[in-house]
Amino acid sequence: MNPPKYPPLSARTALQFPKDFVWGVATSSFQIEGGAIEDGKGPSIWDEFCRVPGAIADASDGDIACDHYHRWEGDLDLIASLGVGAYRFSVSWPRVRPSGAGAWNSKGLDFYERLVDGLLLRGIKPYLTLNHWDLPAALQAKGGWANRDTVHRFVEYACQVGQRLGDRVATISTHNEPWVIATLGHEAGVFAPGLKSRALATQVSHHLLLSHGLALQALRAQGCASRLGIVLNLSPMQPVTDSAEDLAKTRLEDGKVVRWYMDPIFMGRYPQDMLEHLGADAPRVEAGDMQHIATPMDFLGINYYTRGMISAGEPWDAQRGGRETTDMGWEIYPEGLTELLLRLHRDYAVPPMYVKENGAAFKDALVDGRVHDTQRTQYIANHIAAVGEALSQGVPMAGYMVWSLLDNFEWASGYEKRFGIVHVDFATQRRTLKDSALWYRDFLQRQKAARTQRHVATTGA
Ligand code: FCB
Repeated sequence: MNPPKYPPLSARTALQFPKDFVWGVATSSFQIEGGAIEDGKGPSIWDEFCRVPGAIADASDGDIACDHYHRWEGDLDLIASLGVGAYRFSVSWPRVRPSGAGAWNSKGLDFYERLVDGLLLRGIKPYLTLNHWDLPAALQAKGGWANRDTVHRFVEYACQVGQRLGDRVATISTHNEPWVIATLGHEAGVFAPGLKSRALATQVSHHLLLSHGLALQALRAQGCASRLGIVLNLSPMQPVTDSAEDLAKTRLEDGKVVRWYMDPIFMGRYPQDMLEHLGADAPRVEAGDMQHIATPMDFLGINYYTRGMISAGEPWDAQRGGRETTDMGWEIYPEGLTELLLRLHRDYAVPPMYVKENGAAFKDALVDGRVHDTQRTQYIANHIAAVGEALSQGVPMAGYMVWSLLDNFEWASGYEKRFGIVHVDFATQRRTLKDSALWYRDFLQRQKAARTQRHVATTGA
């Protein structure tokens, strides 16, 4: 396999997107906020998971992270300086309802009010996620997502946030990457809450999906003006060889990651082959659940980082695939994003789609106030081009957001993996725009200039 030769960045820079296409940057509450026990915030399952010896690569935690809880105004100025139209962030459930049930924490809710108003003041549209993994620890003590009660607590939480912010945020996503919560958190046990049971994981995935559908219904019933959807981590799965074994395994992996979530949401049923595969570990589903899960959405969010290369034998080694890999060891494969988007458009009646996360970790060096992160810049530029390619083939794409605005707490990898287009010195909390941020800013300026030129050309005004 020959690695592809990507066009130079200048060619990528000249790409033109539709006028209403949304450009943004993304973060999540636990990864940047800090303020872990401030102003009445309750502990989340990630606060607890960080205390488990060996759970986090550098034994770090989210107590301070990027200190965004205190530095949010400066961070909003930073976002504005990039010229993006959108900022994707998440609300910390235990900050606004410390024990997941019972009293609401007004100081926590006020923080997000200020954040949203601060964005609007700067002309940036807020894109809100309700659950980016930081479940209140008090709910985990009662079984967490494996307990059907949590579904109803989530709907209450969605309604409260909807009432406070729904008139001002552009979109509300219920969950971020339910596959990660279910599989990495409850089957592999490498993410919070660190449990290891396939039966538990499938039940968790069902409750996440159910809570998603019920939250959409409840938000709409209360007249929420935001557009509503979910964010899934999806990858095209490809066999390493054409052998029958590799093909069968590829179909299975596609079933676990893509169809297990897409089929219920868009077709109201779990894939039959997966139910057979799971046998006694299939989730308990009550009458009416599947109709709730299939509640129509206004958009679908997708997080894309790499493809899945599937082998029935030895796991495929991305390092030996001949293409560049990131600091996470993930193969760089932008074409996979086009392939994925085309497939979703072909196989499902998808609403407008956003790439809600895309980006890469590399070992950055801050020298004389600059970070020359050429690989990250190239990564982002080529994935933007991959979205452009899908658009030109008729896929309804509404926006693209870079993961991430800031270097931050990268879950089980701690602070060792840097995904930011803005460098954070965690000792001083100093922020420095990396070259990738400067490229993104210039790219967006060119988009704007090209639009103005087109406008002048067509209207003469
Ligand atoms: C995604 C997560 C996000 C970040 C990136 C690298 O799975 O949604 O929080 O960790 O990966």
